[in-house]
Amino acid sequence: MGYKVAVVGATGNVGREMLEILAERAFPADEVVAVASRRSMGVEVSWGEKALKVKALDTFDFSDVDICLMSAGSAVSKEWSPRIAAEGAVVIDNSSCWRLDPDVPLIVPEVNAEAAAGFRRKGIIANPNCSTEQLVVALKPLHDRATIKRVVVATYQSVSGAGREAMDELFAQTRAIYVTDPIEPKQFPKRIAFNVIPHIDVFMEDGFTKEEWKMVAETKKILDPTIKLVATCVRVPVFIGHSEAVNIEFAQPLSADEARKILRDAPGCLVVDKREPGGYVTPHEAAGEDATYISRIREDPTVDSGLVMWIVSDNLRKGAALNAVQIAEALINRKLIQAKRKAA
Ligand SMILES: NC(=O)c1ccc[n+]([C@@H]2O[C@H](COP(=O)([O-])OP(=O)(O)OC[C@H]3O[C@@H](n4cnc5c(N)ncnc54)[C@H](OP(=O)(O)O)[C@@H]3O)[C@@H](O)[C@H]2O)c1
Repeated sequence: MGYKVAVVGATGNVGREMLEILAERAFPADEVVAVASRRSMGVEVSWGEKALKVKALDTFDFSDVDICLMSAGSAVSKEWSPRIAAEGAVVIDNSSCWRLDPDVPLIVPEVNAEAAAGFRRKGIIANPNCSTEQLVVALKPLHDRATIKRVVVATYQSVSGAGREAMDELFAQTRAIYVTDPIEPKQFPKRIAFNVIPHIDVFMEDGFTKEEWKMVAETKKILDPTIKLVATCVRVPVFIGHSEAVNIEFAQPLSADEARKILRDAPGCLVVDKREPGGYVTPHEAAGEDATYISRIREDPTVDSGLVMWIVSDNLRKGAALNAVQIAEALINRKLIQAKRKAA
């Protein structure tokens, strides 16, 4: 018998993608249940060919659930993840709520799958922020070879990273501009259509935003606490796919050619780097794909050993839903969990 999986936040951007990925990868589930707020009770979502009727979180019985993929925001996770874990399900959470809790592993399977065993302490595993995820997938093999000292990153983050309503806002504002309707920003602090906004999440005392701080703290937790990182996170009018312009400084020499070879062999990475018009990946091509794409790899002439590159991935897949499903697969492959019904 297979596993019983609950997807909490099943009507959201990430939740729907989770259901699709579970079906696509033929995840060994006997049963998948879709859970969201009371507002969505009875709404249908798809898991492969099957239509699932959404159940309400506050009345759902998790006692025979093995794996809960949680994607309903921090406030919901804070209240519900410990309760669901207490019922014996492992919770894989997409929000920022548990990421820096020392008793909760923060996992990107290509980078630190071995740390997943630590889930036993709280029954919860955290999925990193979307911008961190694609970054560490590319940094890990380079760090193993030449030891990263410092990273400077500027992100170009799509509106889907801010949820369904944010996507609707980009669509509505774009339309409003063509038909000269008035524009009233709601989800973003300024107009997002035909604009870029250098501000994601709240401002902190030092002038950085929380999104920028998350990239620093999460990279240290997943990859190496000695890596110095500074980020500027920017929202751009793209529906799906986050891009990053990244400068990396190494302790040992590393040429662009060698980095290209290392990244070609690295799990989760796809190098597309032709040094000609169109010989690189943009978010438009990355949307719907699983890989972290790396393009424009070149040597940085301003430091002793440094590279500059362009990293793009689908934020709803590798940046959220795919990574969560890969974590669940890692738990199964490493025999860290057992189906309750099988065990009974
Ligand atoms: N989008 C990304 O790229 C990305 C990447 C990494 C992490 N995340 C994180 O993933 C989470 C979800 O993001 P999203 O983009 O999918 O958001 P979204 O599209 O706005 O969807 C939110 C989901 O949460 C559910 N929900 C909200 N309040 C609830 C409650 N009280 N009880 C039960 N369900 C509730 C919603 O259900 P209803 O439809 O019933 O309201 C919906 O299914 C967030 O924590 C986000 O930070 C997102």
